[in-house]
Amino acid sequence: MSVDAMTQVKELLQEIENANPQGPEAVEQFRVRFVGTKNILKPLMGEIRNVPGELKRDFGQLINQAKTLAEAKFEVFRLQAEVAAEEAQAQNLDLTAPGEPLDLGSRHPVSITLNRIIQIFERIGFVVAEEREIEDDWHNFSAMNTPEDHPARDMQDTYYLLNSAEMLLRTHTSSVQARVMTTQKPPIRIIAPGRVYRNETISARSHCQFHQVEGLYIDKGVSFADMKQTLYYFAQEMYGPHTKIRLRPSFFPFTEPSAEMDVSCFICNSKGCNVCKYSGWVEIMGCGMVDPQVLINCGIDPEVYSGFAFGMGIERQAMMLYTITDIRLLFENDVRFLKQFSKAL
Ligand code: PHE
Repeated sequence: MSVDAMTQVKELLQEIENANPQGPEAVEQFRVRFVGTKNILKPLMGEIRNVPGELKRDFGQLINQAKTLAEAKFEVFRLQAEVAAEEAQAQNLDLTAPGEPLDLGSRHPVSITLNRIIQIFERIGFVVAEEREIEDDWHNFSAMNTPEDHPARDMQDTYYLLNSAEMLLRTHTSSVQARVMTTQKPPIRIIAPGRVYRNETISARSHCQFHQVEGLYIDKGVSFADMKQTLYYFAQEMYGPHTKIRLRPSFFPFTEPSAEMDVSCFICNSKGCNVCKYSGWVEIMGCGMVDPQVLINCGIDPEVYSGFAFGMGIERQAMMLYTITDIRLLFENDVRFLKQFSKAL
């Protein structure tokens, strides 16, 4: 019995040494026979009990050798089989087959509109300033001359953070005015694009989130005429050289005097259509001279400096440019809608 076991191990060792399985099935057979959980060497190990004392050492060494060799060879066979499979697959490649088209993404209409506005202002020296969407009450309201009990706060239904009377989602990009004026010295010439939030009922015309671009220019001797000319330049670059602008008196707590700016309707050439509601004009922004109190709040001397500010919504302009009739389409991110827009910047 014991001699048989010895002979058997020697034979198996020989078999392992000579093994040269061809193809994945043969490799698998080798694995099951010599390496798997029920391999043939396992029960033989127990046979050491029956081997005469002087042969025990040799037997043990042989069986270990068989085990180690089987594992090492299996690893080599496995890798060889893998390489062979890959090569076989490469043989099947049809290099003349037409490529599969990559589905390119497209720019979101809000981004296209936003980028266009930014580029127009960058050409005359405005620099982009981006700021946080979660703001404190001071930067969003108080610094902007809108104290606690000011009725203007009702104009913008505010989302406050849970359990906070202090932290909120900014209701306008005017908060960036305060951020910039408290950290930079004039001359200041920034545009601040970004998302804003208001607790409004969602409909085809309004949403609880939208985008604005804020503009702020502070220097010595900045006048209302400077503002008018800057905004006129913007309107013509944005909506074409025949565009006219109209400033209507308005009210904002942070500007004095304040105005609302309309552009002549570029869809119907002011002849009247449903976009301009047959008035020939489309309102696109609020603007005005920065209120001296706002300058004081932010540590800028109104005796030395003056400036103008403006703020415009992006969605409405994007909707006009692309004749989109429902603002909700801009936030649903339906690919069928989005892929209709330009891939260009
Ligand atoms: N913050 C104002 C709004 O959201 C717009 C505005 C900005 C008006 C700057 C005047 C000056 O309606």
